[in-house]
Amino acid sequence: MKNRTVLVTGGGRGIGFAICKAIAQLGGNVAVLDALLEPVEEFLTLESRYGVKTFYERADVTQQASLESAFKSVLKQARSFQGCVTAAGIALDKPFLEHQWEECQRVLSVNALGTFWTAKLMAAHMSNHGQGGSIVMIASIAAQGIKVPEQNLAIYNMSKAAVRGLVGPLAVELAEMKIRVNSISPGVILSPMTNALKTEYPHLLEMFENAAPLKRIGVPQDLTPIVSYLLSDASSFTTGADFVITGGMHAGVSPSYVKPKDVA
Ligand SMILES: NC(=O)c1ccc[n+]([C@@H]2O[C@H](COP(=O)([O-])OP(=O)(O)OC[C@H]3O[C@@H](n4cnc5c(N)ncnc54)[C@H](O)[C@@H]3O)[C@@H](O)[C@H]2O)c1
Repeated sequence: MKNRTVLVTGGGRGIGFAICKAIAQLGGNVAVLDALLEPVEEFLTLESRYGVKTFYERADVTQQASLESAFKSVLKQARSFQGCVTAAGIALDKPFLEHQWEECQRVLSVNALGTFWTAKLMAAHMSNHGQGGSIVMIASIAAQGIKVPEQNLAIYNMSKAAVRGLVGPLAVELAEMKIRVNSISPGVILSPMTNALKTEYPHLLEMFENAAPLKRIGVPQDLTPIVSYLLSDASSFTTGADFVITGGMHAGVSPSYVKPKDVA
């Protein structure tokens, strides 16, 4: 990743930050756009630890003026981008019949349109500098149309299916500009978004750990190798693809999860 700069939306914490750290460890510079006032403290150590450049700009990916001016500002400092990861996202977990208009519009706005407009800004920039690049979108196991037991994520599922739906058309349309577009679909990953599993819903955490064929819940570091791969030239023949990383949960539930007393 040397001599490359990757823009990461939602890179201020959680999965997005883990991706920033992985890029820095591989010698790449990172520019973050995030709604948080400031990123996690460790972000500020990346420059001195890995000898790279980092840039942070507060932005709301749902607001045109905010997104465009923050993009312009980090671009001015970074000079050019060769990669982009759209990790900014929010979740909503409640029964379908309790979903409300405004909160649903917010979820679609952040997850689907925030990804769309960021990708458009980035594609225009990569097309202008002529070198192309790689765009990686963070979708979700939820995009596969799967209802996870005990969770009710209707509008979130829909927003992430929209992200997946964007990958194919962009991959084809942007290929002649040497821009590759792929997504990853993580399963349950411990992050600030899912921290409540530990504190408020430990039974759910246990259920996920038991249900996954690989018998554990994910951590952000489970996702960083595939994102680094997709950002690098090692994946130069890969575009329009989605990579599902769930500990096997998208394929089925661990056989040992079904206890004899459950089937009796
Ligand atoms: N944690 C999981 O189990 C899981 C699973 C699959 C997919 N994902 C996806 O991975 C991505 C990262 O999630 P995470 O678990 O690290 O959550 P997180 O809440 O820790 O991080 C999300 C980041 O997005 C930022 N953000 C939210 N709204 C924004 C906006 N309007 N403008 C700019 N930034 C905004 C937040 O400030 C935060 O830094 C999300 O897209 C999420 O949907 C998470």
